[in-house]
Amino acid sequence: MKNDIESVLLSEERLAEIVQSLGKQVSEDYRGKNLLMVSVLKGSVVFMADLMRAITIPCSIDFMSVTSYGTGTKTSGVVKITKDLDIDLAGYDVLVVEDILDSGLTLSYILELLQSRSPNSVRLCTLFDKPSRHVADVKPDYVGAVVPDKFIVGYGLDYAEKYRNLPFVGILKPGIYAN
Ligand code: IMP
Ligand code: MG
Repeated sequence: MKNDIESVLLSEERLAEIVQSLGKQVSEDYRGKNLLMVSVLKGSVVFMADLMRAITIPCSIDFMSVTSYGTGTKTSGVVKITKDLDIDLAGYDVLVVEDILDSGLTLSYILELLQSRSPNSVRLCTLFDKPSRHVADVKPDYVGAVVPDKFIVGYGLDYAEKYRNLPFVGILKPGIYAN
């Protein structure tokens, strides 16, 4: 698996630092609020699991799943909900937890949908941001790290459902997805 990685972008140690710092910020900002962390499956599951343990205030969690990518590396712009939330958002301060903000098409759809369910607030925490690729007008409230316009895998991020279990984030060798 590691042979398919061109270079390591963020080590396990660096990721832990980033997550701790995000957790501290979120804990301060949401003190006295009714925090509900919404993880967008599957890419954000590793980040979610670490971030929630870096949060020191009470919080609830829920999961939703959408598809926009298939198995390729470019977004299709078509978003389909494959698993909706279990929790009614009324009274919650929703924090959407995402792995990476790329074109933003997936997230702009999700944020609008959640907003329409009348929670107290909706904000976005993305582990990675690729600002050079934004198409939709989505502004994240929390960003772990800005990354270059390269296809990255690991720490939850996949290529064709593989590499999610790498503990670090690496740049995939272009040869892997070119063939
Ligand atoms: P968007 O709608 O283009 O912002 O797509 C966001 C989704 O595409 C993310 O939640 C990821 O699942 C996937 N994605 C975008 N860039 C990458 C990448 O570099 N590696 C792995 N998945 C990616
Ligand atoms: Mg994905």
